[in-house]
Amino acid sequence: MLTIGMIGAGFVAGFHAKALHSVRDVELAGVCAPKGAEELAEAAREDGLGNTQILETTAELCKAVDVACIFAPNFARIDIMRDIAKAVENGAKLKGIICEKPLARNLKEADVLARIAKALHVPTAYFENQIHMPSVIKARRQLAAVHKSMGAVHLARSAEEHGGPHEPWFWDPTRQGGGVCCDMGCHSIAVGMYMLTPSDKPPDYLTPVSVTAEMALLKWGKEPWISQLKERGVDYSATPAEDYSLVTLEFNDPETGICSIAQATNSWMYDAPGLRLLMEAIGPGYSYNVNSLNSPADMFISDAAAATVADSELALEKAQATRGALILQPNEPDLYGYITEWRDAIAAFEQGKDALLNFEYGRMVTMLIMAAYRAHEKKQTIDLTDSKTLQELETYVPLIQQGKGAEVLLGAG
Ligand SMILES: NC(=O)c1ccc[n+]([C@@H]2O[C@H](COP(=O)([O-])OP(=O)(O)OC[C@H]3O[C@@H](n4cnc5c(N)ncnc54)[C@H](O)[C@@H]3O)[C@@H](O)[C@H]2O)c1
Repeated sequence: MLTIGMIGAGFVAGFHAKALHSVRDVELAGVCAPKGAEELAEAAREDGLGNTQILETTAELCKAVDVACIFAPNFARIDIMRDIAKAVENGAKLKGIICEKPLARNLKEADVLARIAKALHVPTAYFENQIHMPSVIKARRQLAAVHKSMGAVHLARSAEEHGGPHEPWFWDPTRQGGGVCCDMGCHSIAVGMYMLTPSDKPPDYLTPVSVTAEMALLKWGKEPWISQLKERGVDYSATPAEDYSLVTLEFNDPETGICSIAQATNSWMYDAPGLRLLMEAIGPGYSYNVNSLNSPADMFISDAAAATVADSELALEKAQATRGALILQPNEPDLYGYITEWRDAIAAFEQGKDALLNFEYGRMVTMLIMAAYRAHEKKQTIDLTDSKTLQELETYVPLIQQGKGAEVLLGAG
């Protein structure tokens, strides 16, 4: 039995609490957050997830649990990690540290997290749920023999799109790290790379060769959307970020030298049902695809009945409509891979090991995201085999993240 402590009690923490219903030998023992801790702890107790306590500080939480989870906003990562380190130095006996995607806003920050975790000798899990999606796992398992005889996937297309984030901090590139490429590109880049990886190889097996990217502010820089954001305290005339990004990455198989390509598309302008994850893998003589909006269930709510609908997101994450034909997903934590990522992390921590994806892996994804922003800024292909380029990326902070998106974004200013 491992006890879990969540730092942050917002949207994703709530989703993880739902996923924990399907994970054995864990107890949600503590929650620590400026907002939402009471609601989350009460719901967890009611749902039988454990005797969930509210802790005032990260230090107290780390003393009370086996596993500390960083489910707070991106701008709070470094301070929280330093607090975890102090707690461990003061005697907290952590068996694992989990951090939600993205690991950090840039490589300098990612380095701090990875370095601290390594120095503490505490196993880590970087939570990138899409790699754990049951449909992706099943497709890769079924294709293991095909990969061996025909060769691995050579083209992967992945996309995550919805109508825009729920909290203002996500929209502020200086606090979040960028726009949709930092927020959701990290998912699509990671899963794209994973789909290209032979079934019997680890997720960091392929060598990244080059990155090109196109980013733009297509919807949220226009009226009436820009004014709607202003009402929520987000000023896209001053600090715009991209609501569209397309990143193309080339990889090399280090054993065979065979090249493969991943295309990751992300947007915050998906004015269509809810949240859509699309994955398409094309290999020599075979293919598979995943569409998270394909569901065995749907529903219809008429105008007459719509007034009684309290929460459109009950049916599907990021649903924007409360009436008409709606998609209903019966088990989103399972569909998106949250349950499997927990099971993987818990099993690894029980054995004193890192999860399938650790902080070093999260750092590598951050490097690919930084390369994408650099490619967009310079309107050039970024050569990741060039040591000088890699060195530059170590300290690079994208202009969009610096709050200077108007200088580089089509559709801004
Ligand atoms: N895997 C996914 O698909 C997915 C989905 C949503 C969010 N996320 C990630 O999860 C993280 C949190 O996102 P969210 O949607 O839950 O955000 P949120 O704004 O809904 O909730 C953030 C929570 O963190 C708390 N918090 C704020 N500052 C804090 C601090 N300094 N110390 C401790 N707690 C603090 C807030 O009070 C709140 O409880 C982000 O990094 C985001 O990228 C991942």
